[in-house]
Amino acid sequence: MGEINFFPDNIEIKNKKIILRLDLNVPIKSKTIKDYTRITLCIPFIQKLMKKKAKIIIISHLGRPKGIRLPELSLIPIYKYLKDILNTNVYFFRGNFDNDTKEKFSHLKEGEVILIENIRYFKEETEDDENFAKKIGSLGDIYINDAFSCSHRKQASIHNITKFVNKSFAGPLLKKEITAINSVIKNKKEPVTCIIGGSKISTKINLIKNLIKNVNNLIVVGAMANNFLSYKNFKIGKSLIENNTNVIIENIYKKAKEDNCEIIIPEDCMVGIDFNGTGKNKNLSEIKENEIILDIGIKTIKNIGKKIDESNTVLWNGPAGYFENDNFLKGTLSIAENISKNTIEKSLISVLGGGDTLAAINKSKSKLSFSHLSTAGGAFLEYLEGKDLPGISVLK
Ligand code: 3PG
Repeated sequence: MGEINFFPDNIEIKNKKIILRLDLNVPIKSKTIKDYTRITLCIPFIQKLMKKKAKIIIISHLGRPKGIRLPELSLIPIYKYLKDILNTNVYFFRGNFDNDTKEKFSHLKEGEVILIENIRYFKEETEDDENFAKKIGSLGDIYINDAFSCSHRKQASIHNITKFVNKSFAGPLLKKEITAINSVIKNKKEPVTCIIGGSKISTKINLIKNLIKNVNNLIVVGAMANNFLSYKNFKIGKSLIENNTNVIIENIYKKAKEDNCEIIIPEDCMVGIDFNGTGKNKNLSEIKENEIILDIGIKTIKNIGKKIDESNTVLWNGPAGYFENDNFLKGTLSIAENISKNTIEKSLISVLGGGDTLAAINKSKSKLSFSHLSTAGGAFLEYLEGKDLPGISVLK
């Protein structure tokens, strides 16, 4: 398959209608935006298109309303924010798409912006309905997907829309995400270390298999590591564990051997009696029946630190422990601080992703620095798995 068509800087777009698919899916409670990260990242490109005198039609989804106009999933708070922050006329379109919709957009002048209400208010969006894609596609001349985090969705404004516009491009944020992930799995600077946490191994099995092929070290932390400990016959008390993972783990070790990838699992841990209590550092042979593993231990933190120090590229997805309780945050923050230090001092290429990972590192009191923080969840993992994302295939 060909190369992705990235939006070229020198393209003439004055007076052209640009359909810009963004991911403005941000947390909103009682009409208040709780986290602006995704919106803030989109602003420079919108401003660039404004400066180039394009007419900008923005499409995004919010949540999963399943074709129902749920008021709490309206883009109104985002519209108000864009109106405040963008130095131009910003309009809001909350109508249906029919034959005279195009006419309704005809008032849009150069450099102005129109935001379309939550596109998932239409069930045809998630069904990737061709007719619907045609209706939204016919509103513009050029389509730009700058929503990497939605590109794993085969949905009308991501996928089929490209059939009904003259030209389709990937925007700069999408380019940044792809370039960052490729720096781990394709154009990599070895040694590459991947740190994978979280709780369910079955959801990340394909990811792990693909990573093993591409990286030198794979470090497993979080509740996922419990399955490895149990496989190695350690007693893990009441720790979270998934059933029937022994065959999966056996395969992982087999593949790792073939591909010369070292698998590293915790060698000590912090245990507690319940999720809300305090913790105790223990060796793996000391875990009692009523204890739960809730973080990695001191020796493991040191070991991981050493691996990070030796690496030129690090990818990290998934916290090391139950970070919601500060007593079990240390493992996750130590990893974050170590990666950040190496990024600053030794030009380590560091790519981080996943909602929980970002939420956990936000708890750090230090100012952390990484090469790339992905705002994508599912898309980040699927791209890392080596899958062809439908929203990206159509931009090639
Ligand atoms: C995300 O938050 O990961 C994206 O906006 C995609 O949302 P979705 O999982 O509801 O498709």
